[in-house]
Amino acid sequence: MQQVTLNNCDKPMPAIGMGTVLSSRPGADPSETMKSALLEAIKAGYRHFDTAFIYQSEKPLGEAIVEALHLGLIKSRDELFITTKLWCTFAQRDQIVGACKLSLRELQLEYVDMYLIHHPLRVNETIQKLPVPKEIIHALDIKGVWEGMEECKNLGLTKGIGVSNFSCKKIEELLSVAKIPPAVNQVALRWIYEQGVIVVVKSFNKERMKENLQIFDWSLSQQDLEKISELPQHKGFTMASLFGPHDFVLQLDAEI
Ligand SMILES: NC(=O)c1ccc[n+]([C@@H]2O[C@H](COP(=O)([O-])OP(=O)(O)OC[C@H]3O[C@@H](n4cnc5c(N)ncnc54)[C@H](OP(=O)(O)O)[C@@H]3O)[C@@H](O)[C@H]2O)c1
Repeated sequence: MQQVTLNNCDKPMPAIGMGTVLSSRPGADPSETMKSALLEAIKAGYRHFDTAFIYQSEKPLGEAIVEALHLGLIKSRDELFITTKLWCTFAQRDQIVGACKLSLRELQLEYVDMYLIHHPLRVNETIQKLPVPKEIIHALDIKGVWEGMEECKNLGLTKGIGVSNFSCKKIEELLSVAKIPPAVNQVALRWIYEQGVIVVVKSFNKERMKENLQIFDWSLSQQDLEKISELPQHKGFTMASLFGPHDFVLQLDAEI
């Protein structure tokens, strides 16, 4: 697996990661389904996993790692690159270290390799329905929240820190206050490996899992690349699709 060196993160990130969002299937125990699929992914050669507090996949991923160690599929947890994310309800200066420790408890790990701010906004109550009521959505205190993220890194709870779904404008705001610049901005765009971008794929199907790893021994022709570049580009996911079409959220989607 090829790896990419990041700034402010001691460990290189494998170029392909396994996503852990599970669309619910009737009758299946999501936790058990996920644990066995993630174990299968480790067997297939995945070493980079993308989880988040809100995906409810931290616990099954932690259990899959324990079992992989037990079965000898990996010798040490250090062989894995684990990313998790700070959920919007914890996006306040005084809650970030606690939220990171909560994720580590679920994952049964002493540290993660990357901790990301999941979205550039704060929600001040547990989300009970969609779209999220606009009264509970607030602007992010970027300076305070980033200080909390930096504290997580300084405490050794994570090797690297970064953001997700941030516009260029939000990144600029962040860079103007950051002591440690973000190592990653994870966005849900269909970017491709040949553009030098790390991709997170998700399949819990054994064959498709293997198929998604087989991108290193071939390349697209110039003609293919030109055709692809002509395709209309769309965001794979918008903030409004998750939080609702409120003015504040639409503004975040409109920012570049
Ligand atoms: N930071 C963020 O806000 C954010 C947002 C979106 C996603 N993500 C991360 O990115 C991951 C991937 O998200 P996504 O939106 O790209 O994918 P997705 O919609 O979660 O899942 C991909 C779908 O494609 C199918 N699939 C995968 N490989 C395939 C193949 N080779 N052939 C045919 N079908 C295939 C999978 O089904 P099977 O499982 O049945 O194969 C699955 O239904 C997530 O799990 C999450 O970790 C992060």
